[in-house]
Amino acid sequence: MFYVSAKEFLLWEKKQLFKGGDKESLYLLLESIAGISHNEINLLRLNSEGDFYFQKNLDLIESVWDNHLTNNVPIQHLSGFTFWRDLKLSVSENVLIPRPETELIIDIVLKIFENNSKKLVFAELGTGSGAISIALAMANPSWEGIATDIDKNAIDIASRNFMNSSNQQNLRFCCGHWWNPLESLKGELDLVISNPPYIPEEIYKKLPVEVKNFEPKIALLAGKDGLEHIREIIYKAPSFLKEKGWLILENHFDQGSIVRQLFLENRFTSVEVLQDFSGIGRFTIGRYK
Ligand SMILES: C[S@@+](CC[C@H](N)C(=O)[O-])C[C@H]1O[C@@H](n2cnc3c(N)ncnc32)[C@H](O)[C@@H]1O
Repeated sequence: MFYVSAKEFLLWEKKQLFKGGDKESLYLLLESIAGISHNEINLLRLNSEGDFYFQKNLDLIESVWDNHLTNNVPIQHLSGFTFWRDLKLSVSENVLIPRPETELIIDIVLKIFENNSKKLVFAELGTGSGAISIALAMANPSWEGIATDIDKNAIDIASRNFMNSSNQQNLRFCCGHWWNPLESLKGELDLVISNPPYIPEEIYKKLPVEVKNFEPKIALLAGKDGLEHIREIIYKAPSFLKEKGWLILENHFDQGSIVRQLFLENRFTSVEVLQDFSGIGRFTIGRYK
């Protein structure tokens, strides 16, 4: 443990933010590697005579911050963690860092099933760090979930994240291409969720360095129009969903109306495009017949 006075910390913080970067990233770094939460920092501002105990010294934290600023390395890769809803999840270069807008998928699902306490079976296609499936399995202990991904490294990270977050046994992990690992569950799924890769080729080329150089291409790129994977997921969904089962997809900011059309062409009903925090049609939902 390293003792740091409030005054020393506040000066240090000012110096780091003067170099660049944003406060949220600095706080994420402090929480994940020094064990100091945002709330503790706020309390310290009220009592500048107080002190802190850090798990790492300020020089070491500064060197990690400098690496983030100089090389555009995502802070989550340097700390090895990210916070998503109320979960603390391990991340690496093998998985997409789960985004804040994706958190809304959990609220959408909880709203759809709010008065339904029945046991149900859900699957997530392309689980990455496991964020969505873990949050759903933990919020609904009577549900059974299967989280899949084509990348075995992602499956390993996601299953470790589940073990570290919960003692529940209601989520399993399978590796494979979209629906393939779910062959034995044809016609049995009440709910399928996916935040698949949906970035069109031309947009992918222009992504910021911290995304393009550090996050997996397989998690982002989806052919010329960005719809390659979304199309495949929707076409095959009717074989796997129960009658009246729900499909919930995240899509790119401008894909809502075309994804809605794909749902309708594949005999989905109650189709809606829902907005994210910025008012963007980010999620398309529908029921199979
Ligand atoms: C946009 S990321 C979403 C990750 C996570 N669900 C989230 O929301 O943060 C897409 C995920 O789909 C996986 N993926 C890409 N192609 C796939 C395929 N053909 N079959 C299954 N999963 C695939 C990637 O490995 C990646 O983990």
